[in-house]
Amino acid sequence: MEAANAKRLQNQVAIVTGASSGIGQGIAIRLGQHGANVVVNYHSDDEGAQATKDQIEAAGGKALVIKADVSKEEEVEAMFQTALDTFGTLDILVNNAGIQKDAALVDMTLDQWNKVIGTNLTGPFLCARAASKIFLKQGIRKEVSRAAGKIIFISSVHDIIPWAGHVNYATSKGGVAMMMKTMAQELAPQGIRVNSISPGAIKTDINKEDWSSREGEEKMLSQIPYGRIGEPDDIARVAAWLASDEADYVAGATIYVDGGMTLFPSFAE
Ligand code: BGC
Repeated sequence: MEAANAKRLQNQVAIVTGASSGIGQGIAIRLGQHGANVVVNYHSDDEGAQATKDQIEAAGGKALVIKADVSKEEEVEAMFQTALDTFGTLDILVNNAGIQKDAALVDMTLDQWNKVIGTNLTGPFLCARAASKIFLKQGIRKEVSRAAGKIIFISSVHDIIPWAGHVNYATSKGGVAMMMKTMAQELAPQGIRVNSISPGAIKTDINKEDWSSREGEEKMLSQIPYGRIGEPDDIARVAAWLASDEADYVAGATIYVDGGMTLFPSFAE
């Protein structure tokens, strides 16, 4: 079964933001394995971005590393232009880049607020706007996909689970949830599918402090009915599916990939 689908993104071009580590890196590699040409966007981790590119190329794919801060309009516009100049088309955007800057409400600085909103909320808006302009101009490329384009947001379980001590982050993800739905409604009539994946606790650098101690890991596990902390590839497999024609009738959906974390009615910090 897997063999038949192995190259289901052949000749498609994908931009994955925040692809130098964690979930973004996992997604970029998976899309590459499925035959997509991948733009590996990153902000500061040159080595991580290069490692992502190397792994895509080792799997026989093509990758282009582009440094850009997704919260900056000029940098986003330049990135999309370079992607287009290099690969000629664009079929998939994965809005993955995200940061946390945690603090109790009373201690949260405006800078911590602005940085998180900039990367997690303004970034996906700027990238989705740039991508959809290209998709609309391009129309459906029948030889590669039934859709004119696919946008996948990487949100969080905290788009519905409040998270004390993280008001900037949880608010940004709540915004992402509505951004996705509104864009999905606006773009579906033109053949563009917009969806989101909301990951639970996935082992990456963003939450390393939480899972690296035994105590922290146990606390995390106590919030996950499925009994294990997720890996980036748990998200990447779903992203590859959402980007493919296998998911061609999926538009405006949020898929919680969280080992059942959202099943708990109450969630403490
Ligand atoms: C956060 C992680 C956290 C997870 C579950 C994610 O969105 O980035 O730090 O472990 O949600 O709470």
